[in-house]
Amino acid sequence: MFTEITNAMAERMAFLEALDKKDRDDGTTRMERLRQIPPETGKFLSILAANCPPGQLVEIGTSAGYSTMWLSLAARERGVKVKTFELLEPKIRMAKETFDKAGIKDFIELIEGDALVNIRQTENVAFCFLDCEKEMYLDCWEIMADKFVKGGILVADNAINHFETIKPMIGKAQKDERFDSVVVPIGKGEFICRRK
Ligand SMILES: C[S@@+](CC[C@H](N)C(=O)[O-])C[C@H]1O[C@@H](n2cnc3c(N)ncnc32)[C@H](O)[C@@H]1O
Repeated sequence: MFTEITNAMAERMAFLEALDKKDRDDGTTRMERLRQIPPETGKFLSILAANCPPGQLVEIGTSAGYSTMWLSLAARERGVKVKTFELLEPKIRMAKETFDKAGIKDFIELIEGDALVNIRQTENVAFCFLDCEKEMYLDCWEIMADKFVKGGILVADNAINHFETIKPMIGKAQKDERFDSVVVPIGKGEFICRRK
């Protein structure tokens, strides 16, 4: 999969990595920052997403489309699209620019608006990357938990660096007997749940 990364995609990845670092260093406000995953998490996600059972690939929290680029590698391999949800107009604009410049528009469906409303329409979910506001995780879990196919996987970001904020969602998922779960110490910590 990683050999499928074109020069155009690699250039856009490098551009967003530099912008994300600059924003973290120069005091750009939290809402304006891209707050994207590190590259090793991107690789981890694309490998997991490529190996899920048949079904939809979903991402909640697109930002400028950095993690979506990694997931698009799995989508390309599976012959499907990543359905990704974003609320904020400036992020939507940047994400569209990313998908255009990286040449991956055919592998992405960007759903604009409040994910808490729009994810209700998803079904048959094989993979979901949960990376929106941490305070929304529990609500997203409540909506998504019923939607997974057997063997489907949910990955929630920031399971270590924002553990206290997402603890209610982690606790709820751990008590749900339909899922096996574990925290993986990669990047900012990934909480992984697999539908039995
Ligand atoms: C941590 S960033 C996502 C980073 C991205 N996954 C990446 O790694 O490149 C979280 C994103 O969730 C978006 N978001 C917040 N609330 C949302 C909502 N209700 N619906 C959809 N997106 C939302 C934010 O605007 C922000 O762009």
